[in-house]
Amino acid sequence: MRVLAIESSCDESAAAVLDERLGLLAHELYSQVELHRAYGGVVPELASRDHVRRLLPLVRQALERSGTAPGQLGGVAFTAGPGLIGALLTGAALARSLAYAWQVPAVGVHHLEGHLLAPLLEAAPPPFPHVALLVSGGHTQLIEVAGIGRYRILGDTRDDAAGEAFDKTAKLLGLPYPGGPELARLAQSGTPGVFQFPRPMLDRPGLELSFSGLKTAVLHSLRGRELTPKLRADVARGVEEAIVGTLVAKAVRALEASGLDILVVSGGVSANQRLRAALTEAVGRRGGRVYYPRIEFCTDNAAMIAVAGLARLAAGEHDGLAIQSRAQWPLETLAAVPWRCEFGRSEDVS
Ligand code: KG4
Ligand code: ZN
Repeated sequence: MRVLAIESSCDESAAAVLDERLGLLAHELYSQVELHRAYGGVVPELASRDHVRRLLPLVRQALERSGTAPGQLGGVAFTAGPGLIGALLTGAALARSLAYAWQVPAVGVHHLEGHLLAPLLEAAPPPFPHVALLVSGGHTQLIEVAGIGRYRILGDTRDDAAGEAFDKTAKLLGLPYPGGPELARLAQSGTPGVFQFPRPMLDRPGLELSFSGLKTAVLHSLRGRELTPKLRADVARGVEEAIVGTLVAKAVRALEASGLDILVVSGGVSANQRLRAALTEAVGRRGGRVYYPRIEFCTDNAAMIAVAGLARLAAGEHDGLAIQSRAQWPLETLAAVPWRCEFGRSEDVS
């Protein structure tokens, strides 16, 4: 089976074509970052309007680059939620209409399931079961993943997501949106240990997380001081170390609690190099192994939506003609489906 996938949950418009035997044949992406930068964050209405402009050309490009005629498609997958509802509806309406015109099934995909399954596109995909650390702009969760659609939330953030903590503190340092990668760049020239920001919830048992205190701590440390390049870099380094330290400690704790030794890290923040290095080291020390998506599939993209969509379409799942998008959608309500796609690889990844 070959599928077309469309992603439009936030500020990235994307389309991809995935074949169950040949693997990923095309993935196209347009980032709206420049559009939203002047406002310091994503403006939902502008995001929706831009998706409408970008998506269809991206779809045509993905079909052309992959040499795919509509008749070769077994279905169309789209991000149905969670996300900005207007933005989601643009992709859903397009995907549903194309599927209707081409007389193939359409399936709405859970955006976070897409992030969780992105590492399946790599040459050495992670085996199930594993623990996933999902760290994006809107979510920070530790999840026990027994298979596709078999998710058990082990820990969640009580307030801000890790990406949100990066973005909010970056804003305080005067960095442009999106702050995460900018803050990580600035932190490289900072001195470790100058600022020791709180690592909340580490002194307590359990797998809950909290990042809202970090912003306040940064605000206090900047108050009344001149924002010199050295101060900014040292604060950025302190912020990155606090977030990375907290995530590593909780991820290791989740492996211990579940008795598993495979960790999968995905979502936008998994692009952070210091986080990747620290997790690889900490999990390796326990004799475990960490898997990541390639950097371009850490942040939002349509390739990951194609993986989840292909698994669900191949299992016979599909939506009706009524278009359903959901701003909120609990991951644990998804149905379990098997995964047999090898993408031309000989090993069995299920
Ligand atoms: O998964 P994603 O693209 O969108 C959501 O589904 O939320 O994640 C975006 C988040 C943003 O908060 C962004 O600042 C953060 O991922 N991010 C990073 C890095 N690259 C992206 N945070 C820290 N370091 C990075 N290198
Ligand atoms: Zn995302």
